[in-house]
Amino acid sequence: MDGRIVRGAGMLALAAVVGTGLAQAQTAAADDKTRQLYQARCAMCHGADGVPKPVAKTAASFADPAWAPTAEAIVAVVTDGKGTKMPKFKGRLTPEEIQALAGFLLRLKDAPKP
Ligand code: HEC
Repeated sequence: MDGRIVRGAGMLALAAVVGTGLAQAQTAAADDKTRQLYQARCAMCHGADGVPKPVAKTAASFADPAWAPTAEAIVAVVTDGKGTKMPKFKGRLTPEEIQALAGFLLRLKDAPKP
């Protein structure tokens, strides 16, 4: 058995673990930012947990497992608005923020219930 090779593999495994942890931390940080964005710009109508408030009663509940639009469809509604009460966020949010919100909304129903 060559001790050097074994140690090398150990270092590699360690680097892989640290790397994964970092990627997860970055994803978590991005998720946090998007959650804050949702709470600040959307939750007053769509509810903190995605269940619409009376003002947005015509909107689907994002917490309903049956609500499964494509990310593109969400991006379109958020960008251009819908009906009379859903504001358009074009020019107020960046395309990247809107894309991140779409992903966030699609994951909302998988979030553990308090
Ligand atoms: C002033 C209240 C209000 C705000 C703020 C608001 N919405 Fe809406 N939203 C609505 C209403 C009302 C509808 C339903 C529109 C319709 O179908 O007539 C809607 C519909 C939607 C839909 C389509 C849901 C469906 O029925 O399939 C999405 C997605 C959505 N909103 C996302 C967002 C996001 C993301 C934000 C924040 C960036 C946001 N909304 C902010 C009121 C609001």
